[in-house]
Amino acid sequence: MNASFVLLPGDGIGPEVTEAAYRVLVAVGRRFGHEFHFDSRPMGGVAIDEYGDPLPQSTLDACREADAIILGAVGGPQWDDPNAKTRPEAGLLTLRKELGLFANLRPITAHAQLIEASPLRRDLIEGVDILFFRELTGGIYFGDSSLSDDGRVATSVMRYSVGEIERIVRMAAQAARNRRNKLTSVDKANVLEVSRLWRRVASRVMTEEFPDVDYEVVLVDAMAMHLISRPRDFDVVVTGNLFGDILTDEGSMLPGSLGMLPSASLGETQPGLYEPIHGSAPDIAGEDLANPLATILAAAMALRHSLGLETEAAAVEAAVDVVLDSGMRTKDIAGGGKFFGTEAMGDAVATAVST
Ligand code: IPM
Ligand code: MN
Repeated sequence: MNASFVLLPGDGIGPEVTEAAYRVLVAVGRRFGHEFHFDSRPMGGVAIDEYGDPLPQSTLDACREADAIILGAVGGPQWDDPNAKTRPEAGLLTLRKELGLFANLRPITAHAQLIEASPLRRDLIEGVDILFFRELTGGIYFGDSSLSDDGRVATSVMRYSVGEIERIVRMAAQAARNRRNKLTSVDKANVLEVSRLWRRVASRVMTEEFPDVDYEVVLVDAMAMHLISRPRDFDVVVTGNLFGDILTDEGSMLPGSLGMLPSASLGETQPGLYEPIHGSAPDIAGEDLANPLATILAAAMALRHSLGLETEAAAVEAAVDVVLDSGMRTKDIAGGGKFFGTEAMGDAVATAVST
């Protein structure tokens, strides 16, 4: 197969982890006989420095043409000035919106080899396998917002339409059918009108179109507790933009390190955007200390969801397991023991893919 990837290395540790994922994809192309093309483009803080824009038009155009986009991370203290005209994060939000990437898939998986790295007791974390569907192009992130003339009152509106709720619930329910057939919808329907609409629409879609899928609703504050007290009870979870942002950061702590978790952002059409959940970690940037596995696993999601290459995706995931089984660890998951660098870890996965 012929496929083209746009790489958006971004800021901080982004370039290092993207390079590792790139090498793994090259190994996949070689082993399975695919022609993969790669095009690297500036985005985030580096693009602000170079073009005064976190998402230059040429980067957006290249993304539209690609089959899949791999993003490292954006942001850093040098672009944190609250008075700045634009921020690296704005580029990411525009990219999501422009490409119509309304569904953000965030799997929270407890890798058996890393149970000891989890802050939870073994009996709570073992076997945890949750797939979050976070709505990504609506809600309070994109509702009207304003600041009064005197600067003393601000508003941000949380808004959802029936159509926006239906499409994300459908996508999540489909995914549940291919897993353990359970869907949890998270809202704040005891307080927010927008959540009452969310709940009515979600419940109707589930009753009419997915009567075979186990369905429950949970309030977001309770969900924050259940994620810690009984994470194994959840299979697929669907929720809005802000609740999903917060709950997936909480969930990302369960497996022990943020450095292991990939995510995929999908729309009705291609390309999808694939990135690690972690940020740009400017404190360790350029030191060969970052864990590249999240970005490598994100590349596996790209093979699966954008290119339909299930065997190849599974091969990358199996290669990550081989490397973890061999005892190789980056610093974040080494528990104070011996650790390897970003490059060595990524190359070990590329080698495991090749054999
Ligand atoms: C995320 C990030 C972004 C978000 C920021 C960087 C805009 O936290 O992908 O979860 O809030 O969506
Ligand atoms: Mn976030």
